Amino acid sequence: MPEARILDGKAAAAALRLQIAAEAARLKARHGIVPGIAMVLVGDDPASQVYVRSKTRAAGEAGFHVRDIVLAADAPEADVLAQVAALNADPQVHGFLVQLPLPPQVDPERVIDAIDPAKDADGFHVVNAGRLAMGRDGVVPATPLGCMHLIRRARAELAGLEAVVIGRSNTVGKPMAQLLLREHCTVTIAHSRTRGLADIARRADVLVAAVGRPEIVRGDWIKPGATVIDVGINRLPPETPGEKGRLVGDVAFAEAVAVAGAITPVPGGVGPMTIACLLQNTLLLARRSAGAAA
Ligand code: GUN
Repeated sequence: MPEARILDGKAAAAALRLQIAAEAARLKARHGIVPGIAMVLVGDDPASQVYVRSKTRAAGEAGFHVRDIVLAADAPEADVLAQVAALNADPQVHGFLVQLPLPPQVDPERVIDAIDPAKDADGFHVVNAGRLAMGRDGVVPATPLGCMHLIRRARAELAGLEAVVIGRSNTVGKPMAQLLLREHCTVTIAHSRTRGLADIARRADVLVAAVGRPEIVRGDWIKPGATVIDVGINRLPPETPGEKGRLVGDVAFAEAVAVAGAITPVPGGVGPMTIACLLQNTLLLARRSAGAAA
């Protein structure tokens, strides 16, 4: 059995980040604008700290102005909303995000609703979700955007293909389905409660797994030659006490690689693309603020 082409997100993200850095330099030279990004972290969740650190480093390397804001785990919602209001008003900041999940006293919907849609680097605001659904220009969430980059590497033509998205989150599944629809795929959104999930998955020319269940997608769920995008990042329980568990996706990679035409690894697939696309979104917002949209 021939092995699938591995869609190397690390390499694709590095190339995209170089391109973004070059465009940021051009924006500075021509318009005197340095793209500015801010990240708000509430509390000390270790995974969120790692994500924010990676985003901060990548933004700095692209030549962006970066602002990191950390609030205490018990910060009242009003403090988070005040921070959002300050960033909305800050002319140096073109895009920002509030890292999720938030502690229980802070309502994520109220926080995201407070973000100016023109500075919504994550594309999580309802206005940007609505624009995507209506086929209008807005900000597209970075993870599905990164998935589309990788899908296009595997498939020059998407029109008419069967696409199945497993997962219906507002941050990945739903916007992913909208992007595939925009490319004229026939799109099915499945999820953890879908009946006959394996049979539905097997129809897919393009299969996106974003359900957060370790290795739920088995090799025999995959149509031979399909493009398989694995958004999942799941930590398995450690095999020996005291060690870290293995990091796996939502796809059983060793099985799937023997059937698929192209597949993303975990780690090194979708993850690095998310960060690169967050920078791309911020660059776009900086350009728009300058009236210099490409
Ligand atoms: N938590 C995990 N992924 C993300 C993301 O893409 N954006 C935000 N704001 N929080 C997250």
